[in-house]
Formats: sequence, C-alpha cells, structure tokens
Amino acid sequence: MVNLSVKLNNLIFKNPVMTASGTFGYGIEYNRFFDIGLLGGIIVKGLSLNPRQGNPPPRIIETPCGMLNSIGLQNIGYNKFVSDILPQFDNIDTNLIVNIYGSEIGEFVELASKLNNYKQISALEVNVSCPNVKAGGATFGKDPEVIFVLVSSIKKVCEKPIIVKLTPNVTDIALIAQAAQSAKADAISLINTITGMVIDTKTKKPFLGNKFGGLSGPAIYPVGLRMVYETYEKINIPIIGVGGINSPDIAIQYLLAGASLIQIGTANFVEPDISLKIIDGIRRYLENEKIDDVSKLVGLAHN
Ligand code: DOR
Repeated sequence: MVNLSVKLNNLIFKNPVMTASGTFGYGIEYNRFFDIGLLGGIIVKGLSLNPRQGNPPPRIIETPCGMLNSIGLQNIGYNKFVSDILPQFDNIDTNLIVNIYGSEIGEFVELASKLNNYKQISALEVNVSCPNVKAGGATFGKDPEVIFVLVSSIKKVCEKPIIVKLTPNVTDIALIAQAAQSAKADAISLINTITGMVIDTKTKKPFLGNKFGGLSGPAIYPVGLRMVYETYEKINIPIIGVGGINSPDIAIQYLLAGASLIQIGTANFVEPDISLKIIDGIRRYLENEKIDDVSKLVGLAHN
C-alpha cells in the first residue's frame, strides 16, 4: 500500500490532487456525477465580498493550443456563498479551499476575516494573479511589496492556512514567491493563466470582450512546470503546482519538479472526473516504482 496523503500545516489531504479555482464551480455541483470526497481538495471559484458581474462577453474561446478566458471573477459574493453553498459541505469529507479576491487590500482582509469563522473551510487561496481585472488581481501579484503587505495583513485576521496563487506574467517568479514566504504564507500555488489574445479576422477586432484573456490548458504545462522547478530551489514553503495537468504523467512531473500538491484546471471541462484518474495513475506509478510515499517524489528532479 502506498501512502498518498499529504500534510500542509495541520491540514491533511488524502491525496495530492485538487481541482483548480474557476474550473470546478463551487464543487458541490459535481457530487451528482462522482464522490467529490475522493479528491484531495476542492478550490472554489474566486469569491469577492460583493457579487460581481464579470467582464463583457464573449469571455471564453478555445484556441488550437488551449483555452482563453476573460471571465473577470464573476461570482455570487460572500453572503450568498455562506448561506447557500457552504452548508452543503457539512458532510463532504474533503478540504474545501476558498479562492478569494479583493480590488483593494482592505477588501481581501475583510473577506478573509469573515471566512475564518466557517468550519467547512480548510484554507484560503489568495488570488493575486487574475489577468482579467483592473484593480487587485495580477497588478498586486506583480509587486513583491504589495504581496508582503497583503499576505501579512490577511495572516493577522485569519488562522486558516493561506495559500497565495501567483501569476506567471512576471520576469522573476521566485522573487514574488519569496515575498509571500516572508509574509508567512503557508504555501504558494503556481501558475495562474498566461495573458494572451485572439483576433477575429472577420471583424478585425479582438475576439474577447475584454480584449485580453488568460491562457490555460496543455500549452502552459511546460511553463508552469519550469516555474515550479525554479521556485522550489528558492523557497522552503510547499508549492502547489497547476497549469495544463491532464494526465498522471504530467501530474508526476510537477511533483518531481517540487510541487507537494497539484491542481487540475482546464482538464475538468473536458473530463469532470479526470482528477480521479490522475489520483489512480499516481498510485500505480508509485507501486511500479516501489516508492511507498508520495512525498518521496517531491523535488526528486533536482537531485
Ligand atoms: O484566468 C483566470 N480567470 N484566472 C483567474 O484567477 C480568474 C479567472 C477570471 O475570473 O477571469
């Protein structure tokens, strides 16, 4: 029997596989199709204090190399989330992680302090990397000083583990990760989407209502992998790898690069229960390799 469980501070994940924010709704919708309690964790789509309409349509387009989105963090807001969604997680045995967004530091802090009161929530993922919003989002995530102040302020009001989700749209990802670590972040997740665009040759205009969007899917896997590898050598808090993972092989590459846990994103749109296949594939790999614990894979590519 191999051990797939992973510890992050006091949190136990039954396996290292989670669903990425924005690609799995509020998670609970999928319980009709398979037992979501089998997942290591579920990361809820980005939540803000007040409901958000998001960006003008069109907001999604598939390209030959991946998906481009410009959603703009449309969501139901804190009140509806805690009244309608959270109670449904009372009896679901997985880690529920809420991805949070604020247009300013105070908004992030207020939301984090409110969510701190709910026992159904295991951790918060601080979204400083959305490429589709003007305030907050990736503008925060590109500035190490802002990250430091933001994360330190959240840590003062929230006892739950704080994961900081970083943007790949920077020149030195490790520098940003170090700022999060100095502010006592419990983990970082990388990467969010890469800024891109598509032009409609009929109208001769940008296709997306917001002009630019975030690229996700298979095309970004080598970039995410490289960023995990590079960051692993420069920080000592756990890394959660995300970006184009759609097979056990790619998931294992992220672990070897230095990720302790991984998130499945765009692949959920293609195959909603793909995470279960990835969990199974990691287990079989460990058995074949005669490695008894998944943590022994983490960072092996650096040896
Ligand atoms: O690509 C992204 N799109 N990343 C995010 O963090 C949020 C999402 C959106 O809502 O635009």
